[in-house]
Parts: sequence; structure tokens; C-alpha cells
Amino acid sequence: MKAAAVVPAQREVRLMEHPEPALASPTDVKLRVLEVGVCGTDREIVTFQYGDPPAGSEYLVIGHESLGEVVEVGAAVTRTRPGDLIVPMVRRPCPRPECGPCRAGRQDFCVTGEFTERGIRGAHGFMTEFVVDDERFMNVVPPAIRDVAVLTEPLTIAEKAIAEVWKVQQRLPASRPAEPGHPPGRGQRAVVLGAGPVGLLGAMLLVEAGFQTTVYSRASGPHDKAGLVRLLGGEYIAAETHTLEQLAAHVGNVDLVYEASGASRIAFEMLAVLGTNGVFVFTGVPGRKGPVELDTDRIMRNLVLNNQVVFGTVNAGRDAYEAAIRDLATFAARWPRPLRRLITSRTPLAGAPRLLTGEPAGIKSVVTVA
Ligand code: BGC
Ligand code: ZN
Repeated sequence: MKAAAVVPAQREVRLMEHPEPALASPTDVKLRVLEVGVCGTDREIVTFQYGDPPAGSEYLVIGHESLGEVVEVGAAVTRTRPGDLIVPMVRRPCPRPECGPCRAGRQDFCVTGEFTERGIRGAHGFMTEFVVDDERFMNVVPPAIRDVAVLTEPLTIAEKAIAEVWKVQQRLPASRPAEPGHPPGRGQRAVVLGAGPVGLLGAMLLVEAGFQTTVYSRASGPHDKAGLVRLLGGEYIAAETHTLEQLAAHVGNVDLVYEASGASRIAFEMLAVLGTNGVFVFTGVPGRKGPVELDTDRIMRNLVLNNQVVFGTVNAGRDAYEAAIRDLATFAARWPRPLRRLITSRTPLAGAPRLLTGEPAGIKSVVTVA
């Protein structure tokens, strides 16, 4: 079968023949891949800055944001059956008995670092015709959201983040008691850094959670991200017209920053204007561009004197996938057109190498396999 792969030793990104997988255990599920999203991580992999082929393989089949359809199930499979739509998880647990998170099914918190990630690190990905994996890594998606379900994986990043934010904020005495009918973020202000797919999906989740949400990003570009954010009920502020000081003065107390730009300098400058009792969540993985100068006294004073919490988050567990699937259905009902507008191109598998190595364009580019 055909697959899009990187061959690091030859510095190549190409379509190749890859053996079609077969069920190997009674709990295995075989999927026909339908769609695969492309993200910044893939672009790092195709420029050989990140990612590793599986042990013993010269190449890595790329692709981790996927949607498939079940074509065959092992005898012991109970979660799914042929015809179901599935979004598989990305990370696979490490083999160490002493790794509590992996043994508990929370490999997103793996402590040994020996996990693999399909399409990224040590395991083939989904930009190919068929894949097989254990049913415990599969999430069933309702047919009603088929056209946007490939956005599930990037939304899991925000789902994991917001679940952690609620836990962190339980530290606050007046931690707004959940009033019936009122979303938990009501009365709070969130800033999203970056208007790529992770930022825009994060903004949707924050608006849905009741936050007054402001997206701060560079040039809106041909896809009118500013207009899109306004359609969601958020505010868009361009980096070209507002400094971070002006942004903060405009927003008021910044209760939450959801960083989704991967731009470290802006992020740390934003940390300097995070509000009282605020939480700052990092999700971007910046390239190594060298040191920058920062006012660390200001940042540290702000952290201490304002009771702030800063955390990073990577990957996601099953609960985040389930939440993302539920919330995509909610978004599709609330913002049918803006949600679909996040997917700005669909390219057949044969065009994947070119798409991956070409100039990034649009918001979310998707490769259609079947
Ligand atoms: C993926 C995550 C993965 C991370 C680091 C991201 O693009 O969405 O699943 O854990 O890259 O490899
Ligand atoms: Zn990704």
C-alpha cells in the first residue's frame, strides 16, 4: 500500500510502498485511513529537526492527526465494530513496569521517556492506506462530525490543558462555585497566543467554557482569522497594532493565557503581564533559535506577588479525546461555518510530500487518503 514517509538518512520525503498491516492480536482493530491533518510537528519532521523512524526502519510513515474507518476487528474487540469512524490516539506507552502513568493508560505523562508516538517518534504514523492498533487506542466518533473529526487530535491539546487549569484553580478559595446554567469560565478573561489550528480550537473551547477570550496573533492573512474569531464571539488583536502591554491594558486582569504560537519570546513577555491568580499554559514547541533578553526580575516578581501558576502540556489521554469528540459536536452545532473554515485545504495522498515540504498556507491542511 502507499504511504507518505520521511527517510532521514537520505533526507527525503516521499511516497513509498509500505506493507499492509494485519491484525496481530484479538484486541486489534484495522482501520482504513480517511484523513490526516498536517501540523507544525510534521513540518519539523520533514525538515529532519524532530522525529525518529521505528527501530530497524530506514523510514518513518508520517501523520498523527487522523480519522479512519474500522474495516476489521479481532475476536476480543468490544469498543468498536466495522463501519465505525475512529480517531486513534498518538502516544503508545513505554514498556517499563515501574512507569505508573503508562501502566495506568496515561502515557501522556510517561516518566521514562521510552514512549513512542505514531507518526512522530519510533512508530509509523497514519499517512497511509491502512493501520492496525489495539482497540484501547481507538476513539469512536459520531458520523455527524465526520467532516471535522480530523480536528479531534489538535483539540485534545486544549482539552488536556483546560482540565488541568480547573484543577490548578481549585487552589483559589473563591474558586467560583459551579452555578447551574453558567459555564465555569464565566467572568474570567483568557488570552490565546497564536491563531493557528491549536490556538483557534483553544479559543473555541475557552469561549464555550464562558471565558471572555482574546486571540493575539500576527497578520491575519488571507483566511481572515480576525473575522473568524469574531464569529466565535471572541476578540482578535493583531500583534502589528498592539504591544503586549496594550493588550493587557485592554483585556484587564488576564486570568488565563493559552500559548499556542510556539514563539518563546512573545510567550515570556506575555508572562510578565499575566494577571493576579492567573494561569499560563504553554503548548508550543519552539525551534532552538538562540537566547533572548528578558526582564526576569519583572517576571519573577509578577509570579510571586500575583500567585501565578505556569505549566506546560503535551499530548493527551483518553479523557481529552472523549471531551474533544463531544466538544467538536458542540462547536459544529454552535459555529458550523467557522469550524469548517479551519480546514483550508484537502490534498490527496499523492500530493502529501509536496504539501509537507512546501510553504505552509492556510489554517489546517488535510491529506485525504480514502
Ligand atoms: C502532537 C502530540 C505530540 C507532540 C510531541 C504534537 O504535534 O499533537 O501528540 O505528543 O507533538 O511529539
Ligand atoms: Zn500535531
